[in-house]
Amino acid sequence: MNENQRLDGLQAAAAQAPDKKPEKDYSKYFEKVYTAPSLKDAKKRGKEEVKYHNDFAIPEEFRGMGEGRKFYIRTYGCQMNEHDTEVMAGIFMALGYEPTDGVEDANVILLNTCAIRENAENKVFGELGHLKALKLEKPDLLLGVCGCMSQEESVVNRILSKHSFVDMIFGTHNIHRLPNILNEAYLSKEMVVEVWSKEGDVIENLPKVRKGNIKAWVNIMYGCDKFCTYCIVPYTRGKERSRRPEEIIQEVRHLAAQGYKEITLLGQNVNAYGKDLSDMNYGLGDLMDEISKIDIPRIRFTTSHPRDFDDHLIEVLAKGGNLVEHIHLPVQSGSTDVLKIMARKYTREQYLELVRKIKAAIPNATLTTDIIVGYPNETEEQFEETLSLYREVGYDAAYTFIYSPREGTPAAKMNDNVPMEVKKERLQRLNELVNETSARIMKDYEGQIVEVLVEGESKKNPDVLAGYTRKNKLVNFKAPKTAIGQLVKVKITNANTWSLNGEMVVEETAEVV
Ligand code: SAH
Ligand code: SF4
Ligand code: F3S
Repeated sequence: MNENQRLDGLQAAAAQAPDKKPEKDYSKYFEKVYTAPSLKDAKKRGKEEVKYHNDFAIPEEFRGMGEGRKFYIRTYGCQMNEHDTEVMAGIFMALGYEPTDGVEDANVILLNTCAIRENAENKVFGELGHLKALKLEKPDLLLGVCGCMSQEESVVNRILSKHSFVDMIFGTHNIHRLPNILNEAYLSKEMVVEVWSKEGDVIENLPKVRKGNIKAWVNIMYGCDKFCTYCIVPYTRGKERSRRPEEIIQEVRHLAAQGYKEITLLGQNVNAYGKDLSDMNYGLGDLMDEISKIDIPRIRFTTSHPRDFDDHLIEVLAKGGNLVEHIHLPVQSGSTDVLKIMARKYTREQYLELVRKIKAAIPNATLTTDIIVGYPNETEEQFEETLSLYREVGYDAAYTFIYSPREGTPAAKMNDNVPMEVKKERLQRLNELVNETSARIMKDYEGQIVEVLVEGESKKNPDVLAGYTRKNKLVNFKAPKTAIGQLVKVKITNANTWSLNGEMVVEETAEVV
């Protein structure tokens, strides 16, 4: 028996009876799985071509690893992470695990983490504190940390030194390695750390278990090359890599055939889609144009970077149909000087010009945005420029944040003369404007009829159904449960700041806004 056969034998034995850690420490037989991340390496953008793979398979020796076991994944952060969770759930199911809703009866718990702001990270460390007690009670429980925080050296070091009860850490580039990482964690007495600093290839055929059967996420690209000076994402998600259009189209067709009603195309900077496809001149506009021909009622995309939002995309969106008239267009600041320090690569005027073009081509377009306040050395005047831009564009909604320094990014090294109280006060003033504007826009819906994609019972009241309009407004209304998953017409009876209440209408002729 050679060394490889012996390892296979050990792995197979461990997969069949992995409930208890073996008496003997077999980990020395394995090449030690310990690769820690480096933000410096993550920053390097190589010229090497991205390879596409369609050959993912659960290794024979790991099949049945999850028999009689349950997994639980807690997801933090953006849609990208939510979708990664769907992929990891798919891998767990393929390994024979079952899902569970509670940590108490889980045999494996994963925290799929977000590194975007300090408070996102604090939540995860808080949760690790809670899970420590559970881990002490159930030593056979496997506890893993994955997602964007795992890509940071400082986080990995902190977990190694202060949270040594964690069994495994892996990053965003190697979720397809989950079976191997789990196997290693069952066998090893030490923490398994496998984080790749550099993105790998694109693997197309990973299994997925989607969260619902009404709306679905579809990745169109991975990574980000923009390097806005405050942002950690280009380091945690690697360089921009587009999926091949035919793969995306096939996935959307398949979802349409399964009865999904809404697709959201995902990427950190979806407007850069196609730039890295060296054999074709193909962009997001071309992709949306093709996808719009698929029989699926609603298509969205997120997130757009204003810099790459080209005329062809506007032209295609203007055709309407299943391409919804809601565009999320993060601006970050209304001050050209701040935008320059953020390295956003557009000015206030260029952004406003883009908004003008979009509104001219799509008159009923709704815009939403992301804004950061309290950037290092942001002056009162610069902040007021953000308020005035908000009024000028007339956004429907915004996600607003206080700037949070992220280790390894250029902004984290900047001196900052803005006290935290001033940042908080600016956020409050901005949020007042955001709320006031929304309340006014929502009020205009009273008496109108909207099309709602019904998602389920309202969280607050199970007698009421809830869903979203094409412009992403939450609508609550009374209707039979059979309406769930359908597109229905609802007459708005009254508006709140962030939601609408209404009654379902049945007449065919009702005019919809
Ligand atoms: N790729 C998207 C944004 C992803 S992060 C885009 O460029 O539009 C979502 C939002 O988080 C950003 O738009 C920004 O407003 C905010 N954000 C990112 N880094 C931040 C930081 N260091 N501090 C505060 N907010 C931040
Ligand atoms: Fe971050 Fe900027 Fe990339 Fe968005 S475009 S993910 S804000 S670096
Ligand atoms: Fe957070 Fe990573 Fe998304 S840092 S916002 S989960 S890409």
